[in-house]
Amino acid sequence: MQSRRQLVNLALVGFMGTGKTSVGRLVAEQLHFEFLDTDELIQAHTGRTIADIFAHDGEPAFRALERKVVEEISARKHTVISTGGGLPTNAENLAALKTHALVVCLWSSPGKIWERVRNQSHRPLLHDPDPQKKISELLAERAPFYRQADVLINTDLRSAREVATQVALQFKLATRPPR
Ligand code: S3P
Repeated sequence: MQSRRQLVNLALVGFMGTGKTSVGRLVAEQLHFEFLDTDELIQAHTGRTIADIFAHDGEPAFRALERKVVEEISARKHTVISTGGGLPTNAENLAALKTHALVVCLWSSPGKIWERVRNQSHRPLLHDPDPQKKISELLAERAPFYRQADVLINTDLRSAREVATQVALQFKLATRPPR
């Protein structure tokens, strides 16, 4: 399987609030790649916000849209792909990303995630009576999927720029020609 991989793209996975979008944009700049965000693509395709899709069609409908987008982007090249936090919990999504991208997971502790998302309101899964508990539970549930990334980077004590430099370095190492 490994030998069939063509690492022409870089995909960022990880929980909400781990910095995938801001780090992704910086990595794209460093690598001179395009930047693409799966949530933004879904919103562009449907003309609706993620919150609206969750509220009116439900989470399974959103997951089906994510699945479609993952298939659609498999033809991309030289692109940094930032993914929604739940996207790699579908094994088909992760397997598809791995065929063309180095998959890097940005990891954060529940406390740090809460710090980063507490003043934001656009994430339907965190509209919960106890969002901190929800973060801990979801993170524990998803950890086995996030651990399947090629590289895991702890973002707790690093700035977005430092994380981006680490991510770009990992990509360069993974794609350097054999000596
Ligand atoms: C989700 C994360 C969100 C977005 C949607 C669902 C999740 O993206 O895809 O609200 O299941 O964790 P971010 O990780 O960019 O916040």
